[in-house]
Amino acid sequence: MSLSVKDLISIADLSTKEIMTILDQADEMEKIVQSKKPSKRLAGRILATLFYEPSTRTRLSFESAMTRLGGSSISVADVGASSVAKGESLADTIRTVENYADIIVIRHPQEGSAQWASEVAKVPIINAGDGTGRHPTQTLLDLSTIRRSQGRLDNLNIAMLGDLRFGRTVHSLSYAITRFTDRLYCIAPNGLELPTEIVGDLREQGKEVIETTNLQEILPKLDVLYVTRIQKERFPTPTDYEKVRGIYQIDKTLLQHVKPTLDILHPLPRVDEISPEVDATPYARYFAQMFHGVLVRMAILTMLLEA
Ligand code: NCD
Repeated sequence: MSLSVKDLISIADLSTKEIMTILDQADEMEKIVQSKKPSKRLAGRILATLFYEPSTRTRLSFESAMTRLGGSSISVADVGASSVAKGESLADTIRTVENYADIIVIRHPQEGSAQWASEVAKVPIINAGDGTGRHPTQTLLDLSTIRRSQGRLDNLNIAMLGDLRFGRTVHSLSYAITRFTDRLYCIAPNGLELPTEIVGDLREQGKEVIETTNLQEILPKLDVLYVTRIQKERFPTPTDYEKVRGIYQIDKTLLQHVKPTLDILHPLPRVDEISPEVDATPYARYFAQMFHGVLVRMAILTMLLEA
């Protein structure tokens, strides 16, 4: 089973059927992980990870996924110490790395960077975050986690909370989840609302985007609460960040009147938006997300490399 595209840059690259196939394939991958024996499915194939921004989960889960499929990974340990520091362009870096690898995963601070990379690269490019733009593989693992926990993706009451302006995970998630639901709740501090372009696109598709600052009011109806970190590194000045820092925090008191089946997701890293006391509640799904991250990335790697 392969994808109709060479690269995975945005959720828009995928049909809803392809999204469902990725999630089904990810479920299948669990057998390989449980068996503790690497599959030979991608034996001899090489993945290069090119991360110009910090990462723990995304990079390690891609490398783990490749290893579990029998392939191997290479990476630039510190991009600052590579030829990029000598002024090499992204295009030249890509043209170099494609000689060493069959597929490239890239994270870069510039919105649109993964798209440019895919235009020069002969090998598939996977966008692992382009500035404030998109983060499609995170969204696929979010969907996989929600589907596993809720048993479905359609007609769920979903709210996204936090920095909806600079957070790329919520940009991708808004487009993906509204393929299955007609309504999306957005809760953001003043000035950090979901970009008007995204809200406009969703409304044009007939979706109801409900922007509110009142979390308490909507919390009892929610099936999924997707919490995000305020993206400190994207603020023009530290003072701008200080104004909104710690503006919301999910704790046990707040969760007194929620549905018993509520799922709280977070792409991580968290700063202070979810209190650690929530970790032991039945609502916490953010650790499960990391497990789904490996499965979904195994599915994506096979589907792009076996094309
Ligand atoms: C996210 C990212 O990089 O956009 N992290 C991740 O991939 N799990 C979220 C974030 O940094 O806040």
